[in-house]
Amino acid sequence: MVQSQQAVDVVIMAAGKGTRMKSKLPKVLHRLAGRALLQHVVDTAAGLNARRVVVITGHGAMEVEAGLAQPARAGAGFGMEFVRQEPQLGTGHAVQQAVPALPDDGVVVVLSGDVPLTQVDTLQALISACGGNKLALLTIEFADPTGYGRIERAGSGAVQAIVEHKDASDTQRQIKEIYSGIMAVPARLLKPWLVKLDNKNAQGEYYLTDVVKFAVADGVPVVAHKISDALQVAGINSPVQLAELERAHQLRQAQAFMEQGVRLADPARFDVRGELQCAQDVEIDVNCIFSGRVQLGEGVRIGAHCVISNARIGAGAVIHPYTHIEGGHSDKDVVEVGPGALVGPFARLRPGAKLGQEVHIGNFVEVKNATMAAGAKANHLAYVGDASLGERVNYGAGSITANYDGANKHQTVIEADVHIGSNCVLVAPVTIGAGGTVGGGSTITKDTAPGALTVARAKQVSVANWTRPVKKKK
Ligand code: UD1
Ligand code: CA
Repeated sequence: MVQSQQAVDVVIMAAGKGTRMKSKLPKVLHRLAGRALLQHVVDTAAGLNARRVVVITGHGAMEVEAGLAQPARAGAGFGMEFVRQEPQLGTGHAVQQAVPALPDDGVVVVLSGDVPLTQVDTLQALISACGGNKLALLTIEFADPTGYGRIERAGSGAVQAIVEHKDASDTQRQIKEIYSGIMAVPARLLKPWLVKLDNKNAQGEYYLTDVVKFAVADGVPVVAHKISDALQVAGINSPVQLAELERAHQLRQAQAFMEQGVRLADPARFDVRGELQCAQDVEIDVNCIFSGRVQLGEGVRIGAHCVISNARIGAGAVIHPYTHIEGGHSDKDVVEVGPGALVGPFARLRPGAKLGQEVHIGNFVEVKNATMAAGAKANHLAYVGDASLGERVNYGAGSITANYDGANKHQTVIEADVHIGSNCVLVAPVTIGAGGTVGGGSTITKDTAPGALTVARAKQVSVANWTRPVKKKK
């Protein structure tokens, strides 16, 4: 790909109302694959190495402006700014508002906040087509072009105009090639054209698409970069379209993973709402959801109905069905599952759960902000929070760390080779010495010595030949 030498400045139109979403949330903040529609577009702009990104806001401007994050991959020179468009008088009027923010020496790429899946390489090709001296339009052919602006060409094939559907004659409406809403044009050419726009058309709006006529009149070549991938230009106007695009996008991601060798039980029941990395021979059963950053090591198997966010899962680990792993972004909070570990079914790993090699976590076990060293096991109905468990610790069914005194959290330290019986309460802060044993049903409030058996419960009492009370006769 030949990279344009010229700086790229992106304008994202996001002032429209989105009435058909029938939602209080501004349309561009609705999520696709876990990210706001507009965030996808901003992230794409960052991927283009844009110098400036000017977001045109209007409806719900405050919420939209607050709802956007700086893209993770933004280069050092990346600058995002918001410009208000009030009232909204059309796409041409929208871009007019951005003019003061656009340096004359750049190529302007116009995008829409409700078109989330345009690829960086497509836009790079569009910028190359612009070549720093032409008006380049991203176009596509639709079997049903109803509603879109049509690309009108002369006999020679040269683009003459974009005719909006509502302004088009019956003959023009036969044209199948439509304008995607995306263009690339040098700022120095665009600016004088924007000044000349009027609203004398069927919708009484300032159409950005009228710049094509001005380019033709000025002898500036207009080039169409025609693509065939409809997902890249699909806009969202309704919940139905949002769900359709979500499924199409997820299916495309699923296919890419399968091409890498990941074995998905059903690509139609697989959702990645973030970044998933898979090593070789990963198997994923149906209805799993991955969000944030998730890494799956070689040979990892994920059972059905798991929800996993921000986790690193080591080679050969098995996550059984219905497990919920909810790590955080930071190194401290990311969930780590060691190689060969077995987790679930019905396990819950919360932020800061760090499981070593071959740790076993069974059903209805919750682990939070706790380290479990190699070979440690908590197989049934337990809570391990704010704790560190040494190697080979066996943590009995029904046992919990009482880590919270109502005001502060405290640490529980269980040294290597300890056996904690069933139904124990370990009142933190407390340390159980290496190799020790805690009898079932104990409430432990004091540190125990290495190797000791500690029992902290009422002694068992038996009364021989006990006669139970009987009901009195009336
Ligand atoms: C536009 C194009 C049409 C193209 C179609 C592709 C024009 C005049 N027409 O039509 O040729 O085929 O996109 O989807 O440009 N917006 C603002 N401020 C406004 C008006 C719109 O920010 O005053 C934003 C909207 O929120 C939306 C985008 O611009 O994100 C496109 O606006 P929309 O009204 O959907 O344009 P279309 O009529 O679909
Ligand atoms: Ca539209």
